[in-house]
Amino acid sequence: MTEKKSTKKIIAYNILFVVITGSLFLFLWNAPPETTAFLPLDENHERFMPMGKKEAEKFCNDCHGDGEDAELSADHPDKYRCLFCHKRVVPEKPEE
Ligand code: HEC
Ligand code: HEC
Repeated sequence: MTEKKSTKKIIAYNILFVVITGSLFLFLWNAPPETTAFLPLDENHERFMPMGKKEAEKFCNDCHGDGEDAELSADHPDKYRCLFCHKRVVPEKPEE
């Protein structure tokens, strides 16, 4: 009786494990590909290279915000943290 119960528990834990690792895999698989454009190394973006990510992201909308000169395309993906997707080429300072 107790033995049956624990077998069921073990099976349940195994299923749970497979579901969790499976979803994690799918989540990572669906992440944006590394082909996303890097932050360009030009006069507009140079100053962001040594900055902390959060600090630098405050300035992006000055040029890439709605109605600005370099407005993002309508089908641009989630805009929350620019530099998580658009990597800088310079080694990163640790996040403040
Ligand atoms: C002073 C204005 C300005 C600021 C501030 C600025 N950008 Fe830009 N950005 C531009 C312009 C203009 C272009 C298009 C020409 C070029 O490639 O440099 C561009 C291009 C880009 C590109 C390249 C797109 C492609 O198709 O290759 C990325 C990525 C980008 N910006 C991200 C950012 C991020 C992230 C920030 C904030 C850290 C930022 N920009 C801040 C003006 C700016
Ligand atoms: C979830 C990932 C992600 C985030 C966050 C993100 N981008 Fe992008 N961005 C992309 C992808 C994917 C493209 C499509 C073109 C490519 O492959 O680079 C793109 C394209 C661009 C372009 C080229 C022009 C256009 O509209 O297609 C610019 C400029 C740009 N992003 C700037 C930014 C800025 C500024 C932010 C923050 C406000 C930002 N991105 C946040 C993934 C992202």
